[in-house]
Amino acid sequence: MGKLSAAITAVGGYVPEFVLTNKMLEEMVETNDEWITTRTGIQERRILKPEEGEGSSYLAIKAVQDLFRKKQVDPKEIDLVILATATPDTLVASTAAYVASKIGATNAFAYDLLAACSSFLYGMSSAAAYIASGTYKKVLLIGADKMSSIIDYTDRTTCIIFGDGAGAVLFEANEEGLGLQDEYLRSDGIGRTYLSMDAGGSILPASEETVKNRQHYIYQDGKTVFKFAVSNMADAAARIMDQNQLTHEDVSWLVPHQANKRIIDATANRMGLDHSKVMMNIQRYGNTTSATLPLLLSDYEAQLKKGDNLVFAAFGGGFTWGAIYLKWAYN
Ligand code: UT7
Repeated sequence: MGKLSAAITAVGGYVPEFVLTNKMLEEMVETNDEWITTRTGIQERRILKPEEGEGSSYLAIKAVQDLFRKKQVDPKEIDLVILATATPDTLVASTAAYVASKIGATNAFAYDLLAACSSFLYGMSSAAAYIASGTYKKVLLIGADKMSSIIDYTDRTTCIIFGDGAGAVLFEANEEGLGLQDEYLRSDGIGRTYLSMDAGGSILPASEETVKNRQHYIYQDGKTVFKFAVSNMADAAARIMDQNQLTHEDVSWLVPHQANKRIIDATANRMGLDHSKVMMNIQRYGNTTSATLPLLLSDYEAQLKKGDNLVFAAFGGGFTWGAIYLKWAYN
């Protein structure tokens, strides 16, 4: 048997039906379409309405069902389900375990992976390591976030950015040298205070006070996060190119976390990439946190060709960030 690498062999995606436009946000907070579009590139985002009474698992299951529609997979053959999320259904009980049961992956073990906007990128590393080592044959990696559940829709600095969605990919072994080639992953706890949800964790459990102080919503020091995001995401992408002697001509696609179009542009410029090679859907979905990367794959799947060189890059709370170089495995 040749050396095993971990290839993505199927993708699926899902976004809820309800569209929250910039115009609608103008009615909710002091903002305007022009500001949001020029500062972020976002025009609309999808929201799973609270009345539905569903959590991130609902989005995750829908994304997996989409994947199953496109590729025949026996769920019983899945060895492991990793759910990348910043918004698990509940704390303590694993959301991944629930999703695995619901999709029929009854022989799998499952766990949640929490690394803010880099969750899916880190999950790719984990999934690929299990496959490349020969430990498991089929690993399902899902990125799902119901960001609307932790957004304060009276705070214009955050409510314009985030949206809900999910994406899923299947990792399987490849002996042709396709799949994950290299990774550069980092974290730095200095970021802890700049992008966080202060209450509801073990430091500050829920209380009347925390609810009154609106501490169960995301807080972001946008300017600081932006500064770190631009330099670290671009650095990581440039570094993965250097490590693998990739020129801008060798890179077929940049698959960047969708936090802000200006961060994406800065990363692409640093890599010397033409815009036509940059995957982007931030205008339609906003920042879906763990779901941005697989939703890009889902949207661009028809354009991907076997052997294409993809560079994934992300930056998120914590701070967490990095880049992954992967060769696409199917047409
Ligand atoms: O995915 C995880 C990682 N997250 C990120 O990468 C996000 C990084 N940060 C960003 O994308 C940007 O910092 C934001 C989009 C959040 C904000 O854009 P900015 O260009 O950094 O704006 P700013 O925070 O510097 O604010 C500029 C001005 C301020 O007014 P003054 O102080 O100059 O009078 C804000 O109060 O824009 C004001 N402002 C708004 N105006 C209209 C802030 N939010 C809004 C808004 N509508 N929604």
